[in-house]
Amino acid sequence: MKLLRTLLASAALLLATGMAQAAQPARVIPAVQDMTAADGTLALPRTLTIAYPQELEGEGTLLAQYLHDDFGIRAAVGKGNAAISLSLDPALSFPQEHGYTLRVSGTDVRIAAKDATGVFYGIQTLRQLVTMEADGRCTVPRVSITDYPAYRWRAFMHDDSRSFKGKDIVLGLLDEMARLKLNVFHWHLTDDQGWRIEIEKYPRLTEVGAWRDSTQLGGYRGKTFDPHRHGGFYTKQDIREVLAYAKARHILVIPEFEMPGHESAAIAAYPWLGTTGKEIKVPCTFGVQYEVMDITSPRVYRFIEDVLDEIIELFPSPIIHIGGDEVKFDQWKASPRVQAYMKEHGIDTPADLQVLFTNDISYMLNRKGRRMMGWNDITGNKIHEYNDADDATARQKLAEGTIVQFWKGDLDLIEKTARQGYDIVNSYHYMTYLDYDYKQIPLRQAYDFSPIPEGLPKELEKRILGLGCQMWGEETLSDEWMYSRIFPRIAAYAEVGWTLPQRKDYASFLRSLEGLKAIWKEKGYTVGGE
Ligand code: ACM
Repeated sequence: MKLLRTLLASAALLLATGMAQAAQPARVIPAVQDMTAADGTLALPRTLTIAYPQELEGEGTLLAQYLHDDFGIRAAVGKGNAAISLSLDPALSFPQEHGYTLRVSGTDVRIAAKDATGVFYGIQTLRQLVTMEADGRCTVPRVSITDYPAYRWRAFMHDDSRSFKGKDIVLGLLDEMARLKLNVFHWHLTDDQGWRIEIEKYPRLTEVGAWRDSTQLGGYRGKTFDPHRHGGFYTKQDIREVLAYAKARHILVIPEFEMPGHESAAIAAYPWLGTTGKEIKVPCTFGVQYEVMDITSPRVYRFIEDVLDEIIELFPSPIIHIGGDEVKFDQWKASPRVQAYMKEHGIDTPADLQVLFTNDISYMLNRKGRRMMGWNDITGNKIHEYNDADDATARQKLAEGTIVQFWKGDLDLIEKTARQGYDIVNSYHYMTYLDYDYKQIPLRQAYDFSPIPEGLPKELEKRILGLGCQMWGEETLSDEWMYSRIFPRIAAYAEVGWTLPQRKDYASFLRSLEGLKAIWKEKGYTVGGE
């Protein structure tokens, strides 16, 4: 049945795109760096042999699964006369790590790379090169490809806090990331409207913090509410499953535990975490909340360390995201205890207090062998209208080695941050927020995004690790709404991250996108922007 649907989808695609499609050179998303084509195609038999060394067992198994699920091809593992072979070759060299070569001759397909990740990317390219003809025959164009990523950080962020989606949806998203060679799954697991990760030492985080009574509809300006209780959380076992699935797909999962703002769900569970100490409920409304942690309290530090210990035990990621964005300083300013602490320690502004706190957590993470990442608010520059410039400009300097995820503020701040020696992930909101509609961020605008901002001095370019695109969850109670904003823009961001700017071409991207759209629709995902 699945195969039949695939056949129908490809037949429809052929009809829709007409003969012009056949005349186009082979093209995948993200576009490869270098491809030469010979005449003709290689026909893939319905039953074939694939060969790979022991070290590529995981990649070989996934290839067999893709061939079966995508094209109904049965693949057996063998040694001689393989139709597709995967190999590791330490002598290969590419301008960036995780490159690969893919050669399709008249007799076979060969994918080679220095490491398993490169081989995995070659497999993803092969998947997109296979054409299923209307009669069910599968062919691959004869090509020779040398490919490698432009940027090493190609992230997709999923906000499970505002709308809890659960494991199956996350696994599906990881599949689509893998298809597009996106390599960082940034998992936004805690926020005001819901705490989504089981922490054994603090059970109320999920007993209380994972549930809210209703949900504001239409985002923070919305006037109506969905009256249903909303919630859920990931057990440690769920998370282990997600991590194993991501690892097999060469995706690094970076957990985000927000602090000291975006903290209401945790404060609802444990009011002593908050600056006011008052009991609150998990908010049902969106927009920046006032609740912030009392970061002058040793008990709060202990809490953070305990939670980080459980997170670190679960997540192998060398990088832990601590959020750090949108802290309203009102509660700290109004708290005699926080004010006395600042005076005693000679801390001039709330922004300095936040930077010093952030650095303490950064050193704590370093001691545990991890590196901190946060939104660019943690640099202590004023970027929000709700905090006064005097309060929001820090003199204290952010700890070295912190990764700064730039999302808001004057673009000059990127240069300033890079000059200070921080690595940067560019997630500028006007260009990369997937919850924005297609009027705000048309597909073309997403495609034209450059992680390296215009005018950044050449010597600072190496500070830009790459990009993130972010699916915020205030309006994603509906899966359809969520998918319609992810697809197809996620493909544009994938090409931004992978393909060198001089190799990008929007017209051919759009033609190739038709194939991906057909696949997404076939999988039941709503595709937007049409
Ligand atoms: C953010 O959008 N608050 C990082």
